[in-house]
Amino acid sequence: MNSDQRPIGVFDSGIGGLSVLKHLVRMMPNERFVYLGDTARVPYGNKSAETIQLYARQCSAFLLQHNVKMIVVACNTASAIALDMLQQNTTVPVLGVITPAAREAVDRSRSGVIGVIGTRVTISTNAYGLAMFHYAGRRHIDVHSTACPLFVPLVEEGLLMHQATKLIAMDYVAPLQANGIDTLVLGCTHYPLLSPLLHDLMPSVTLVDCGECTARSAKAILEDRGALSDSLELHDTYFYITDNTPSFVSLAGRFLGTIVRDPVRVAVDHLVTTDL
Ligand code: DGL
Repeated sequence: MNSDQRPIGVFDSGIGGLSVLKHLVRMMPNERFVYLGDTARVPYGNKSAETIQLYARQCSAFLLQHNVKMIVVACNTASAIALDMLQQNTTVPVLGVITPAAREAVDRSRSGVIGVIGTRVTISTNAYGLAMFHYAGRRHIDVHSTACPLFVPLVEEGLLMHQATKLIAMDYVAPLQANGIDTLVLGCTHYPLLSPLLHDLMPSVTLVDCGECTARSAKAILEDRGALSDSLELHDTYFYITDNTPSFVSLAGRFLGTIVRDPVRVAVDHLVTTDL
């Protein structure tokens, strides 16, 4: 069997991608990971497509400088806007979070009535709807989407079960409930932290976590290529951030489930696009 000891590169606009990294590490404990959080320029979810593409190119180029064997775009917004461009310009496989979660939602929905929540940009691209219709083929599905721009700051403030968050969530999901969804895609890396609250509001709706599906796909792609590591050791992840925001270290544990040790700051000025 072939093997490839190079690390897997993961990037996000900031901290949210740690909720994806958590599943990647759990499913591939013997792989090495390099994580880049663009904390200086977060959030991506309300920026222009041009800006998000530039940032995604810079983050990918940084990871390629670390000799990664695969790039996981652990951000829904960057996946919606920049994935095709990254895939066309990069020799290693580039995996976004949208296709894996879209497929999982179609597979798990019984009624075919599926909801999607995400940032303004993600929802405006209809990337989830397109991926679901493509995958569903001739099966009839009905997709309803809502942007939830207040969820990211509420999660970053730690208001995960707060009454204010509950009221806002009720308002966001009301149209989805009215349409009778049986499955809801959490199409933003921050939203898995709101799963308990969303489950309380919609106990019979299946929640799809994009991080979990993406980790499964990443493993399958590497397995297919004979590119999983055959190391038996556990490796520390290398963390890079573009700004030393106090919230990164204090909140990281909530997203990742373990402590983030010694993130290294890389100045935005040092991010280049020449490798892409
Ligand atoms: N990581 C982003 C996403 O999944 C959310 C935060 C942001 O807007 O940058 O869409």
